[in-house]
Amino acid sequence: MLLPSKDLIAKAAEGNYAVGAFNAVNMESAQAIFAAAERERAPFLIQITQTTISYTEPEELFAIIRTLAGRATVPVAVHLDHGRSFDLVMRFLRLGMTSVMIDGSLQADGKTPRSYEENIEVTRKVVEAAHAIGVTVEGEIGRLGVIKGEHEDHLTVPAEAKKFVDDTGVDLLAVGIGTTHGLYKGTPFIDHDRLAEIHKVTPVPLVMHGGTGVPDEAVRKAVARGIRKINIDTQIRVAFYDSLAEQIHAAEKEHADAEAKGDVRKYDIRKLLAPARDAMTEVIAEKMRLFGSAGKA
Ligand code: G3H
Ligand code: ZN
Repeated sequence: MLLPSKDLIAKAAEGNYAVGAFNAVNMESAQAIFAAAERERAPFLIQITQTTISYTEPEELFAIIRTLAGRATVPVAVHLDHGRSFDLVMRFLRLGMTSVMIDGSLQADGKTPRSYEENIEVTRKVVEAAHAIGVTVEGEIGRLGVIKGEHEDHLTVPAEAKKFVDDTGVDLLAVGIGTTHGLYKGTPFIDHDRLAEIHKVTPVPLVMHGGTGVPDEAVRKAVARGIRKINIDTQIRVAFYDSLAEQIHAAEKEHADAEAKGDVRKYDIRKLLAPARDAMTEVIAEKMRLFGSAGKA
């Protein structure tokens, strides 16, 4: 059964752990996320980003997720990740999402920063519509992808975080503490002191974006300082890629052997995708254990 993410994350706050939020782009990645959660007995969010629309109709991917959720024996929420405009968030609300992010820090183009007032305005509109139907809303103040000493003004200011939550009524807050999307060049700088300050003054659970590549010890420190939802996408893609490359390499060897014996090549996509799905499951299960959500279903 699909739940509002607020329910899962409130339990995480009581239990001092974080819930993993894992991006799905197709059937295999969705299946891997559910398989990991069932095995680890972990509550979780499965999330679709706005950019996934360019690959598949959200209605199609959501139909797969709804089927998997109908069979799930652990708590699950389905979340729109990085929704950039009110209209788009409404499209996902109509789908049946139980949780949405309005990424009000950037314009709908995903690049141009919004002013604080513009962020408040669009976030408030989404909160009003989503709360009317019991859907959880994640907002964002501050930006991802800053490096210590450079552009630290993009990092979330604790007093602004509190004001933003008061001004908008969001249930969850994504914060800029030094993490960024994708792989890091070197070890990421996480501003744990800033995170502790934000946690002290902000009345809602905090979200870490850019979870891939954050060292385990830094993840544990962030959870101890109020991070209750951690987003993971790139590491799932890496597991898929690496496994697929291995399978393709093995298949090419089989083809060469077949041809050497005068046989014909055999093709079976399932032989490529099944191991890749298992590889994604392993990565996701390991994150559930690291976040402390394993065994909390
Ligand atoms: O919104 C999704 C996450 O922030 C993904 O970050 O690709 O670095 O794991 P990641
Ligand atoms: Zn993100």
